[in-house]
Amino acid sequence: MGTRTLVTLGLTVVVTAAIAGQVATPAGDAKNGKKLFAADGCYQCHGYEAQGAAPTGPRLGPKPLAFPQFSKYVRQPTGQMPPYTVKSIPDKDLADIYAFLQSLPAPPEASSIAVLR
Ligand code: HEC
Repeated sequence: MGTRTLVTLGLTVVVTAAIAGQVATPAGDAKNGKKLFAADGCYQCHGYEAQGAAPTGPRLGPKPLAFPQFSKYVRQPTGQMPPYTVKSIPDKDLADIYAFLQSLPAPPEASSIAVLR
């Protein structure tokens, strides 16, 4: 085996290991996530559209944290947010809430606002 083949092989192993170690973003149901976001009380601090409210909680969408960080924060928050265990929000429900956050519309482009043109 040539050096080149060995290098390629080594890279393949590293890349495969990196992919396997990742927690993939689960496929969630955004419509159900919207309901859960209200039913589970997220809206009380983050607003119904997850838009955030300065005194109570930050904006969460439309581009939420990557799923592994998102899930970790909800389970083990480090600030004022209360923790939600698997008992209070099962993983499936959390995937739906995440899908809801991803589905939120982006704010309009500045170029679509007449006075800014
Ligand atoms: C009692 C108020 C409260 C509730 C209820 C609440 N949060 Fe939060 N959340 C916060 C606050 C405040 C922060 C800012 C960091 C901190 O102090 O914990 C935060 C931060 C977050 C973050 C981290 C955002 C970032 O960019 O770092 C995520 C993700 C999050 N909340 C998701 C949720 C979800 C999902 C729910 C419902 C299951 C929820 N929160 C319910 C108050 C709340």
